[in-house]
Amino acid sequence: MNILVTGANRGLGLELTTEAAARGHRILAGIRSLESSKEKIIELQQRYPNQIIIVPLDTSEEHSVTYAASEVAQRETHIDVIINSAAILLGREQKLDDLSFEDMDSSFRTNLYGPMMVIKHFFPLLKKGTKQSIINISSEAGSFSNAYGGDYAYALTKSALNMFSAQLHKQYTPQGYQVFAVHPGWIRTDMGGDKAPGDASVSAKGIIDLIERKVQVNDDVTFIDFRGQPMPI
Ligand SMILES: NC(=O)c1ccc[n+]([C@@H]2O[C@H](COP(=O)([O-])OP(=O)(O)OC[C@H]3O[C@@H](n4cnc5c(N)ncnc54)[C@H](OP(=O)(O)O)[C@@H]3O)[C@@H](O)[C@H]2O)c1
Repeated sequence: MNILVTGANRGLGLELTTEAAARGHRILAGIRSLESSKEKIIELQQRYPNQIIIVPLDTSEEHSVTYAASEVAQRETHIDVIINSAAILLGREQKLDDLSFEDMDSSFRTNLYGPMMVIKHFFPLLKKGTKQSIINISSEAGSFSNAYGGDYAYALTKSALNMFSAQLHKQYTPQGYQVFAVHPGWIRTDMGGDKAPGDASVSAKGIIDLIERKVQVNDDVTFIDFRGQPMPI
């Protein structure tokens, strides 16, 4: 399969790229910029030179997304899967009185508009694929029933991403697409911190199983965990 992964240079995105490459897939590995930490993805690309293509892709900038989509279209006939993993978590400790609307803006730009722009501009290539999947990496932080007072910017972007995923799910599931918002678990990455109980590589394996359709998920469910279990909205 041809798989586009955003935020592929570290964290879950890097683990997804590693797992997908080990299983023989071809990965278009989106990285934000030349300033991003790239050592690991470059090392991986050297291990799988015919399978990993590094694509400059800042998901918060539409011109970067359109440019990346046109570059990919010149070398690939199609893609089968889009995995939106890139995200930011700003203002973790901010209480309501300190809430920064600049943080709100950049969080929505990266965590919601980013996946929307990626899906919009890569859709012409996705349409030409087979057994297509759209995976928006979300979070239980975006669930209404688990709402907590904090992480306002992050949690609200993930709620909205769940809604966007539900809209796409309704529209494209009848055409054979899989569309999911996936909670990867609380995992050890720069975002999750080293006290997190989960191993990002385990979550990555579960997500690649999902796109390989090794896990059966009920058609009316959009928000799931990395094992394919339904999550409370
Ligand atoms: N870690 C957890 O416990 C946890 C829990 C629930 C959900 N999640 C979700 O899992 C996903 C992956 O998180 P993570 O833990 O791997 O986070 P991370 O370690 O902080 O990595 C974030 C990744 O996103 C990239 N990114 C951020 N803004 C970007 C932009 N504008 N354009 C392109 N790439 C951008 C970063 O690139 P740079 O290196 O350039 O910054 C980096 O590759 C996120 O959607 C997150 O919300 C994580």
